[in-house]
Amino acid sequence: MTSTHSLPTPTNPGPFGHKQRKNFFFPEGKTEFNHGSYGTFTRSVQENMLRWHNRVEENPDRWVRLDLKPALDNVRSQLAGFMNCDKDELALVQNTTEGVSTILRSLEFVPGDRILRISTGYVAVNKAVDYICDFRKDVEIVEVPMVMPMTDHEIVYQVEKTVQDHIAMKDGSSIKLAMIDWISSVPAIVHPIKALIDMLKSYGILVFVDGAHAIGQVPVDLTFLKADFFITNCHKWLYSVRGSAVLYVPKRYQKLIHPTAIQGDYKSSFELEFSWKGTMDYSTILSIEGALEFRQQYGEDAIIHYSHHLALQGGQIMAQILGTNVMTPHDHQVGNMVNVRLPIKDINHPKIETPDYLIRHLLDKYNLFAPSYKHGGYFWTRVSSQIYLELQDFVHLGNVWKEVIADLNAEL
Ligand SMILES: Cc1ncc(COP(=O)(O)O)c(C=O)c1O
Repeated sequence: MTSTHSLPTPTNPGPFGHKQRKNFFFPEGKTEFNHGSYGTFTRSVQENMLRWHNRVEENPDRWVRLDLKPALDNVRSQLAGFMNCDKDELALVQNTTEGVSTILRSLEFVPGDRILRISTGYVAVNKAVDYICDFRKDVEIVEVPMVMPMTDHEIVYQVEKTVQDHIAMKDGSSIKLAMIDWISSVPAIVHPIKALIDMLKSYGILVFVDGAHAIGQVPVDLTFLKADFFITNCHKWLYSVRGSAVLYVPKRYQKLIHPTAIQGDYKSSFELEFSWKGTMDYSTILSIEGALEFRQQYGEDAIIHYSHHLALQGGQIMAQILGTNVMTPHDHQVGNMVNVRLPIKDINHPKIETPDYLIRHLLDKYNLFAPSYKHGGYFWTRVSSQIYLELQDFVHLGNVWKEVIADLNAEL
């Protein structure tokens, strides 16, 4: 591990900051503040993807019949090293949405089973839980209400209290599975994941971690975490091309789990079932190799340290410009995404209620975007930090939001 003294910081970015722009695709004048939604990749990663893409066309039979599986295997080995697990516990999928449905639709839920989820869970994930409950008799949701900010202790307490309240009802039902976020989307909060997993498992509940934002943003050690299931997008913070994610299924559950689209290898082995998803382009998934190569040049510690500290300092600068605050005073609950309060006088302002108004306004007038949302009675923006950003970008975004909100307030 590198000493933290020598790591790049927002005031001493070293190889990071605007120097990195050349490695990415942003044209002059475009600054990206929403890496968290879809990620982006470097030029070297795209080259890596194109190499795979071209190789297929040169000899499709050789590729599909002989070379594809070893190539996927190699990526799984690299990811296993990166996340400290066995490569045979990993399946490559296209995104978290697919990974979540893979597990939820494979598990057997019987009458009386309950699925615990958190109110701040990602909408598609929560809908996937809705779907399971809609199509199973007497399978219901137990939802944990969560309003941030909360300390780690309060988060664990709130989830545990919901479990205990459920048990106290003594209605014959029991919580079979809990879906929990490692880093939630909005608000963006790094949850005390290990404490949550341990607590939930102590009640005999299976734990499925939605780690869509985890890999590349926080160190991931799956052997330490001991989650029952885990999914993470590589196309968000790891820098692989969109459509690349990895699902973790420990061997003890593998016989139960099948891909969402069943193919000819059904019931052969976990590895074979997930090594072919029907005819498609596998180059996005394989670009994970290029992403890991790019990261190695700079070092994981350096990338994570810089982006995290830029999020912390950038968030404070924006809050100062706006005369507001960041959502959580707990720095370790911030990864690379920071939530900054927007000083709108009326959170039900008609333009905020108008679908797409702020998206168009920010993109058309300012050529930038950061998502905004209501939470806990306030209006917030979520800003993503990255190695290609600097503090001055946060100053710019703070001033843009100040102007946008002042215009909205003037209309009231
Ligand atoms: C917490 C969380 N879970 C799941 C997802 C879904 O990821 P994807 O669209 O790549 O499937 C997202 C996407 O932003 C997310 O933020």
